[in-house]
Amino acid sequence: MFIYFHEKTRTFHLQNEKISYIMCVLESGELAQLYFGKRIHDREDFGYLLEGAIRSHSAYPQDGNCGISPEHIKQEYPAFGNGDFRQGAIEILQKNGSRSCRFRYVSHRITAGKPKLSGLPAVYTEEDGEAQTLIVTLEDTVCGAELELLYTLFADEGIITRSARITNRGSEAFHVTRAMSLCLDLPDNEYDWIQFSGSWARERFPVTRKLDIGITQIESLRGHSSHQQNPFVILKRPNTDEVSGEAMGISFVYSGNFRISAQVDPYRVTRILTGINPTWFSWKLEEGESFQTPEAVLVYTDQGLNRLSQIYHRLYRERLTRGVWKNKERPILINNWEATYFDFNEEKLLKIASKAKECGVELFVLDDGWFGARRNDDAGLGDWVAAKELLPEGISGLSGKVEALGMKFGLWIEPEMVNPDSDLYREHPDWCLHVPERTPSLSRQQLVLDFSRPEVVDHIHGMIAKILRESKISYIKWDMNRSITDCYSVAKEPERQGEVYHRYILGVYDLYERLITEFPDILFESCAGGGGRFDAGMLYYAPQAWTSDDTDAMERVRIQYGTSYGYPVVSMGSHVSAVPNHQLGRITPLKTRAEVAYFGTFGYELDLNRLSEEEQEQVREYTEFMKKHRRLIQLGTFYRLQSPFEHNESAWMVVNEDRTEALVGFYRTLSQANIHFSRIRLQGLDPEKTYQINEEGCCYGDELMHAGLVVSDGTSGKTGEGILPPSDFFSRLFLLRAAEKDKPE
Ligand code: DGJ
Repeated sequence: MFIYFHEKTRTFHLQNEKISYIMCVLESGELAQLYFGKRIHDREDFGYLLEGAIRSHSAYPQDGNCGISPEHIKQEYPAFGNGDFRQGAIEILQKNGSRSCRFRYVSHRITAGKPKLSGLPAVYTEEDGEAQTLIVTLEDTVCGAELELLYTLFADEGIITRSARITNRGSEAFHVTRAMSLCLDLPDNEYDWIQFSGSWARERFPVTRKLDIGITQIESLRGHSSHQQNPFVILKRPNTDEVSGEAMGISFVYSGNFRISAQVDPYRVTRILTGINPTWFSWKLEEGESFQTPEAVLVYTDQGLNRLSQIYHRLYRERLTRGVWKNKERPILINNWEATYFDFNEEKLLKIASKAKECGVELFVLDDGWFGARRNDDAGLGDWVAAKELLPEGISGLSGKVEALGMKFGLWIEPEMVNPDSDLYREHPDWCLHVPERTPSLSRQQLVLDFSRPEVVDHIHGMIAKILRESKISYIKWDMNRSITDCYSVAKEPERQGEVYHRYILGVYDLYERLITEFPDILFESCAGGGGRFDAGMLYYAPQAWTSDDTDAMERVRIQYGTSYGYPVVSMGSHVSAVPNHQLGRITPLKTRAEVAYFGTFGYELDLNRLSEEEQEQVREYTEFMKKHRRLIQLGTFYRLQSPFEHNESAWMVVNEDRTEALVGFYRTLSQANIHFSRIRLQGLDPEKTYQINEEGCCYGDELMHAGLVVSDGTSGKTGEGILPPSDFFSRLFLLRAAEKDKPE
């Protein structure tokens, strides 16, 4: 047991070797937060941590704990309107127009393992001993709402997952208009808040700011988690860096509209709220019905940011990703998008595939443009039938031919969308999200299908499943190329329109679930115009995601570096593309493009026939290299070493489980002449082991971690054999293997 309940003081202590999470039931029956952080001893009474007062102008309830105003308590799941003037976690609109509610403790239960969240993505356990779950039941007797707060504590790591479930136990329907997944009141605001922001083609760049009085908030109102903000935030102490110090992460396992905020009150208490974005959200609950919020994953460590990321990486690789692709190296693929765009036919595709096969590539992926009237992005979305003029024998014919070459076949789909110029739209014009009598906005000439309607999801499922059944398909790239506007479903009554955004994403999850259940061997890669839906929710269904549409190597160093704070290497789709790069016109060496793409799923996004013989030979070597080392790279422990956001030279590395092998990637954006010598301090090695570094020499692990790996080259005046002349967009790999001999020469 590691979740304790002290009867006398009605105190809960969730405690493992790493962390403690403590809360108690107040005299009033409400839940107060007492502590979250590094493990502390258990005791019966933590009452001294419940600091409270009635200050001038504070309100206080007329029952229980009269010496404390709700404004000054650190609360577990507060409602606005009862004297806590901060943002609330829950709001319920009742028949009489009131939005007040106040939840008081009724009971609790502690169970082994972790319950499933029906219809929602969530972290899971494989054995009961891995975690324990506390479910605290509270109620508001006036409106008849029951609230269950779910806390799962993992046995071995500083991980707590949280969600809430609201049930209507009364006799009148009500609308839940706000239901956050997590509320956490921290006793001070000495934190740097790190968010991961960007836009199309520059996703998840870390942005750091100090928390101060007021509200710091990120959110998406785009119907998907978005390129602009990622549903993941880190709070770190000001002196915390990659290798040491306290940090906590808040990751939201959800792919739709979200909000994560930190509200610092005048007494410097910080309230963290995470959940479905309350804007345009409401959910009607009839008598007996429940609403389950998505899950938030809270992680704490006192060992720096790399450690924090590694906890998420392992958890998401092993207890979020499911199915046969969990913990499995990913196939090296070639995708035809940047090679052909819409300009292809079967012959051209097979030519690309054959050359790729010759270069050792394992999977050929046919991207957009293979169906209906889709010769450009004006038409055809929604008509999931192969265009015979391009593919005379359809997808089944093409997939057979690709398999005959000795490769696997993969296919692009964008099931949530429809072009107005499509048979689907002509047949069902009301199947897209739109407001009656208003013209919906287009984006990329497409509209969004109303996935809140089961019949729409069923129809799309029917078309996609048919292709998957008829053809030899090993991989699906599931794209989503526009944000949602005009969020209204003509199939719902007016008072249920607030449900549409969430029901939409539930429809997406449902389609995924049905497809992965029927086709368990298919590898799904999620995509939303690049990295517009790279979130933990998606990883439950699709074990990898297209990280960004920006395939330039130097930009990818930044994008992949930023993404690594919350997501594992094996989840990042990363390809070698052509030069000049299609997004920003930059010319980078082929070697650099490969050495960046290695740190992800690895693949190609160009026509290898257009490379010189010499380059094709290089491609063969790169492919071989990746095959040899992908287990280490994709499933090893990843460390950020030097940030491309702060330095011209950056580095990262991976280390295998028993610390006998490691690979360091070193990148320089612009070359300079006659500059400083450079060393990179490595991490995660065995200090006692000696490591052979490429073919160049041996060092002890402690030397490499403390004195550093010497990466100086021609830029710092070195000359001689093997010293590369400096060039822009330079990269170098260092493969480290524990040496046989125990002492370096
Ligand atoms: C956006 C994706 O990110 C690209 O890789 C490509 O699949 C296009 N969509 C196709 O329309």
